[in-house]
Amino acid sequence: MSSKTTCRIAGILLALFVLIQAVRPERTNPPVKAGNTLQARYQLPAAIEQVFNRACADCHSNRTRWPWYSHVAPASWLLASHVKDGRRHMNFDDFAEDISLKDICQELRIGAMPMKGYLLLHPDAKLTGAEIQAVCAWTQSAQEK
Ligand code: HEC
Repeated sequence: MSSKTTCRIAGILLALFVLIQAVRPERTNPPVKAGNTLQARYQLPAAIEQVFNRACADCHSNRTRWPWYSHVAPASWLLASHVKDGRRHMNFDDFAEDISLKDICQELRIGAMPMKGYLLLHPDAKLTGAEIQAVCAWTQSAQEK
């Protein structure tokens, strides 16, 4: 490839990158529904709450910490769609009655959550075996208030 072609391709890519920035997904944090949170419904031990806040809340709560790259397309599209999807399935701040706590334990046991891509960027979100056990012990014993 001649350097002229390389230059042209780079120019096109750069122009595309700038163009796609115009499509800005919504980065919302809707209000927390006080009576409807996981804490409001269940006796949630502080240690379990900390695990959820650390490893899950970015996608499963209305308290998402939107990182700087959530402002940069195409990462922004991916993040916004994960958060939207995650909240739709389970939202700690708007906790639907039909969600079974056992599903949480199940997702952790099979290693499906937190999502792999998220763990790459947030290695601290990885749960230890002991944490998974603690969460599962809680989901088995949890009583609605
Ligand atoms: C990067 C975003 C992200 C993170 C972080 C994340 N999740 Fe998810 N979660 C999703 C998405 C998206 C879905 C829906 C699609 C799917 O199931 O893969 C989902 C689905 C789920 C479901 C299934 C709900 C149902 O409909 O049965 C459970 C349970 C769950 N997550 C638990 C967790 C737990 C517990 C954590 C923390 C340890 C966590 N997730 C962290 C994005 C995330």
